[in-house]
Amino acid sequence: MSETPTELELQPSVHPSSQPEPELGLQPPSQSDQQPKPWWRNLQWLLLVLVGFSSCAAMLGLIYYLHHHLHPEDQPAAVSPCVSAACRSASARISPSTDPFTQPCEYFTSSCGSDGRSELSGGRMRGQGIPGHPQNQKDRSERRGRDGEDRRQTEDKTLDRKTLLLQHLREVLETKDGSSSLAVEKTRRFYSSCLDTRSIETAGAEPFLSLIQKLGGWAVSGQWNRTDFNSTLSSMMRDFATFPFFNLYIGKDPAEVSRGSSRRYIQIDQPDLLIPIKWNSRTQKSEAKTETLRPFLASCQRYLALLGAPPNTNMIHVGVFISLSSELAVAASPLQHRLQEGQLHQRMTIRELQRQAPAIDWLRCLQAAFHPVSLGEEDLVLLHNLPYILQMSRIIKKWQNKHELRGSGPLHTYMVLNLLHTLMLAMDSRFSGTAKNFSLALGDTEGEVPRWRRCVLETERGFDSVLTHLLRQRTEPIQAEEMIQHVFSSFKSKLNQLQWMDQKVQQLLVKKVGSLTPRLWTSEESSEAELDLLFSEVTVGSDSFFSNYVQLLSLWQKRRNKLLVENREAADILSVSPSLLGNELLLPLGMFVPPLFHHTYPRAMNYGATGFLIAKDILHLLLPNIFSHTESVNAAADCLWTLYLNATKPAGRRASLSMAQQQELWLQFSALQVSLQAYQQSLQQRPGDSSLSGRAHTHLFLTAFSQVNCDMDPYREFMPLGPSFFITVVCSRTNQCPSTPRCSIRPQQNFPNTC
Ligand SMILES: *[C@@H]1O[C@H](CO)[C@@H](O)[C@H](O)[C@H]1NC(C)=O
Ligand SMILES: *[C@@H]1O[C@H](CO)[C@@H](O)[C@H](O)[C@H]1NC(C)=O
Ligand SMILES: *[C@@H]1O[C@H](CO)[C@@H](O)[C@H](O)[C@H]1NC(C)=O
Ligand SMILES: *[C@@H]1O[C@H](CO)[C@@H](O)[C@H](O)[C@H]1NC(C)=O
Repeated sequence: MSETPTELELQPSVHPSSQPEPELGLQPPSQSDQQPKPWWRNLQWLLLVLVGFSSCAAMLGLIYYLHHHLHPEDQPAAVSPCVSAACRSASARISPSTDPFTQPCEYFTSSCGSDGRSELSGGRMRGQGIPGHPQNQKDRSERRGRDGEDRRQTEDKTLDRKTLLLQHLREVLETKDGSSSLAVEKTRRFYSSCLDTRSIETAGAEPFLSLIQKLGGWAVSGQWNRTDFNSTLSSMMRDFATFPFFNLYIGKDPAEVSRGSSRRYIQIDQPDLLIPIKWNSRTQKSEAKTETLRPFLASCQRYLALLGAPPNTNMIHVGVFISLSSELAVAASPLQHRLQEGQLHQRMTIRELQRQAPAIDWLRCLQAAFHPVSLGEEDLVLLHNLPYILQMSRIIKKWQNKHELRGSGPLHTYMVLNLLHTLMLAMDSRFSGTAKNFSLALGDTEGEVPRWRRCVLETERGFDSVLTHLLRQRTEPIQAEEMIQHVFSSFKSKLNQLQWMDQKVQQLLVKKVGSLTPRLWTSEESSEAELDLLFSEVTVGSDSFFSNYVQLLSLWQKRRNKLLVENREAADILSVSPSLLGNELLLPLGMFVPPLFHHTYPRAMNYGATGFLIAKDILHLLLPNIFSHTESVNAAADCLWTLYLNATKPAGRRASLSMAQQQELWLQFSALQVSLQAYQQSLQQRPGDSSLSGRAHTHLFLTAFSQVNCDMDPYREFMPLGPSFFITVVCSRTNQCPSTPRCSIRPQQNFPNTC
């Protein structure tokens, strides 16, 4: 790396096509003289002016041309401000106090995640830190320079990308854009009925109770018609996405994936039990957590009372429910344990499963759950906890014989309470309040997820294709694609600059990276007419969230089934990080949404924020163990850390960095270099960029970068310093920065240039 200390400098452009921007062309003067003049004088004048102007223009053009090639960066006059709606709201977020160039060095001492602040600002606080919210701006300027400011800014920055995406989807759902599509209208109506808690309160428990009636009644709150266990269970899974005794999902067999097959199977797993359990490593069994039994019992009693159970029998039903739940819990075990025991992905035909676990009518249940996919006894399924399944079958048989005949129907009650849990979001506040009290009793301090967030997530479960459509309408894929290509090519050149310890590793990596094709990950675009047809059978009422929600559950069932028949990988609209699929590097659409990205933003903004994040994600994804393969990482991290310590002179002793911290430091700095280089490539290919809040090019790029640098990511805890400090490092190397940052570092001349 030391041979290329100027890697950040702009390479001279080799594209002769760089020409002045059209908007820079000179306009003829619009005002003419007030006094009347003879026409020939006017003509003479005009000619003179024209000649003058054309030579002037040629001259200016030449100057611009030369200037542009030599110093494309310091051209504040050459950029026009971006005035799109997206830019206006982005500009509101860039207040003078967020300019990294005006910050003293102490500003950069707030580190990203190593001080445990991440826990503090998680959950509850997050919903309030909406960037661009006027209140935040005000608070910020009022508390400038104080410790409190740092804290607040950190909180703002911890808005993770998922939250930003959900906020964007929320905006999309709440904006009436005059779309004539019925599917879009249904989606919006579903979302708004989810937010309409007043109607939910008014409806009370009634919708749930009438649903129970349709399922054959319930001995707890009335009469039970002794419905057939297998048919109720089938209906739970098919119509209500409720899996009381075992979980079902669709997935591949990893053993086959490694052989290149992408065939999908039905997978059968232990259920998510309502009763809180813990793993006893001594007995190698799960057991109910005794300390939580009392609050669990209280919450069950409350639910039954709310659903009309008479006080004298309430306790009996609850006791039986808890007893059945604890029996099922015994055979459940944590993933880690099952992995060790080789219990995952056990293949079996449905016939064989029926023989081993006869209490369930497997074929019928699976056919119902995956209707209309046709299934036969010879079809294979994958099991993830066969001992549990066998145990469950025995327990059901036992309870069937022991209690069911007495008419209280404990198996039925067990299923009804699971159904209640599925539908909790559609129940009134007496139910959700009980659930909340119970989770508090379990020591859950995460705080409540705001309702809008849950509603966006639920909307996506059923209406993902409509949301994809709406998101695509607002994204210009060309811009995103262009950025992906530039960042990836710049990443590859970064890879070539590293000094490798092992030629073999290097060759392997270079080969692997060379074989990858990066692209934007979107689902096939559906037209509005297709969407309308797809949702034609769905009726969404504006004031009945309960019935809307029940419909949503069956939409979700359809979506699951599509997975089984379709071989294509459906794009996950809620994903915010890249993934690998075969030889493709897929970057989801959700990475390209405001406030981090917009196709009308100046490219400097997009590359500074999203470009950096993409580069960081790619580095994490493709070079997870880079530390052990190249010395460059260690050297660069040492250099950066020394500069940081010298500049900020932190109080107290600073320990040296761990390997993981060094790698993260190198990685994030490299991501910044990669995205800056990608931006410069993009400028060479397509010169000219607009400005925002009077900032452009590198200045704007670094401002945008400093605004996202503390986003929550899985590696946050390893980052020993706030990455906006990198700005001072970048600016000490190049002449592209608009001015010397207030916090500037002048590395000693003999300082090894390894950063
Ligand atoms: C139970 O069965 C009776 C007789 O078949 C029927 O009239 C009644 O509506 C059923 N009740 C429920 C809750 O399904
Ligand atoms: C469910 O159906 C299977 C197969 O017909 C049967 O063996 C089993 O007893 C039924 N389970 C219950 C609880 O009725
Ligand atoms: C939750 O717990 C509090 C305090 O114990 C109690 O006052 C409140 O009524 C409970 N809410 C519900 C819905 O059970
Ligand atoms: C850091 O500071 C120390 C003493 O203040 C000095 O000796 C050293 O050269 C500085 N290093 C850099 C890279 O500026």
